[in-house]
Formats: sequence, structure tokens, C-alpha cells
Amino acid sequence: ATKSVKLNTGAEMPTVGLGTWKSAPGQVEHAVEFALKSGYTHVDTAAAYQNEKEVGQGIAASGVARGSIFLTTKLDNPDQKEPEAALESSLSNLGTEYLDLWLMHWPAPMTKGTPALADKTHDWLDTWKSMEKLYKAHPEKLRAIGVSNFSVEFLKRLLAVAEVVPAVNQIELHPSCPQADVVAYCAKKGIVITAYSPLGSDNSPLLTNEVVTKLATKHNVQPANILVSLHANTPNTTVLPKSVTNARILSNMKIVDLNEEEITELYEIDKTHHFRACHPDWTGWGSLGFPDCN
Ligand code: A2P
Repeated sequence: ATKSVKLNTGAEMPTVGLGTWKSAPGQVEHAVEFALKSGYTHVDTAAAYQNEKEVGQGIAASGVARGSIFLTTKLDNPDQKEPEAALESSLSNLGTEYLDLWLMHWPAPMTKGTPALADKTHDWLDTWKSMEKLYKAHPEKLRAIGVSNFSVEFLKRLLAVAEVVPAVNQIELHPSCPQADVVAYCAKKGIVITAYSPLGSDNSPLLTNEVVTKLATKHNVQPANILVSLHANTPNTTVLPKSVTNARILSNMKIVDLNEEEITELYEIDKTHHFRACHPDWTGWGSLGFPDCN
């Protein structure tokens, strides 16, 4: 397992980062502070998680220098028409001058307000063009740009017009959601994959899956370590275990080497136990090219 992977910008992205989706204000400050003090060097958040301010507070409280942290946030769907204002808001919330990585959260522009509806007056390809412009105009604010939740079909549409190849595609990835087509396509295009919900998110059946627990016993680690290690052992892949629990935050950093046979065995779980933890209903946009989405 490698400690970091190289992005197409030349920058190094630490392999394991702290995920903060569903990490609530009131808990996430401490989780981020504890993780950084414990040796994490990579934190992932998003405007949509509504915890950027608290993530920023955790970073500040850790005392760890900003330059030693790889920090990612994401452009929220209702902000696709006004990406510059959204960027400034994220920087201000996080209390930082720059992002190591800024991702388009979903290829799905939505209206503001509740319920959010598909904003058919806007094309997400134009959002990417705006993100490229901001990246070129403000290298001091954006070290890399990328995407999230992009299927192969959407990546193809993007690459047909992109001047900047996304550095990263962040997708749900675990043995019950292998997304082999997306992974293979990104490898071919030099786009790093970041695995979110690597444990299968809350109440995951993967933590008690018999293949996972068998390998955990064999390697003398917890089931979660096997699931994180799966991605840490895959080239050009980074992984974001989420936790707000000290002992788990610490434990999730422990990576074991898995061999080809073990990796194959883990991905076979999908044949009988497929699930996707995150499939929001972006009403009006359909499945975004993911056959099992919505
Ligand atoms: P908590 O945050 O309360 O500690 P994912 O990374 O796939 O999104 O999974 C996150 C979920 O897994 C959360 O419910 C988190 O709980 C839980 N979790 C995180 N680390 C571990 C671990 N080492 N063992 C068991 N559950 C864990």
C-alpha cells in the first residue's frame, strides 16, 4: 500500500483521508482535530454536508499547519450557476486560502430551495468550464479540480470538451459497489479514484460479511481495516473512511497488504450482495448513467 498517489497535476494526494459525510456539527470539529493530531493528513468535506465551518474549526484546533493537510471540498448542485461565489463561501467557511481539490459534487444542477428540482436551464458542462476558468485564473486558490459521482457515460461527455482533465473522480466504492467500469475508465484517463463510503456507510452489512470477517481474522485486524485496505492496495486510488469515533478514526489508518486473490474474493461479494448506499433522488435527472442509481 502506498502512502500517497500522484495526481495529474503532479501533486501528491494522501491515500487515506477522513470522510465527513453525515459527520454532524458538534461532532465533526473534534473528529477532524483528533484525526489530524493522530496522523491523518487528508480531510474531505462538501458544501452540501453543511459542516465546512466546523471542519475548518477542527483544522484550526489541531494546530497542524495548513500546508501539511490535503483538503477537499465540493461545489453543491444548487450552486452550479454561481461557482465563484460558492468557492469563496467554501474558502471562508473552511478558514483557508486555498483548496487542494475542488470537486463538482454531482453532474446534476439543481434549483435552490426545497424541494430542489432539476435545473434544466443549466448544463453541468458549463459548470466544468467555469471551474476550469477559476482554476486557471486562481492557482493560489485551487490546486486541483475534479468531479464526483461521474459514471463512464458522463466522463465521456466531459472529456469530449474539457481543457483540464479532472484530477479525481470521487465515487461510492466498496465490495458491494465495485463500479469496475468507472474504475477502469479513470485508470485509462489518468484520473485518480477516491472511494467514498468504503465501509458501506451506516449500519453496513459489509462489516459482518463472512468474507470480510474471515480476512479480518486472518490479518488480525477489524473488518473495517480490510475494507479500507482494499482501496489502499489499489493503484491510483485514495479512500475516505468516515468516523466521528476516536478509536475508529485511529484504527481506520491501519492498512494491511491484501493479495490479488483476497481482492478478487472481496469483489465477488457484489455478485450476491450488491447495494449502493448513496443514491439521492435528483428529481428530473434520472440515473446519471449509473444503472443502479435511483
Ligand atoms: P461513526 O462515525 O459513528 O464512528 P463509510 O466510511 O463507509 O461512510 O462508513 C461510515 C460508518 O461506519 C459510520 O456509521 C461510522 O460510524 C462507521 N465506522 C467507521 N469506522 C468504523 C470501524 N472501524 N468499525 C465499525 N464501524 C465504523
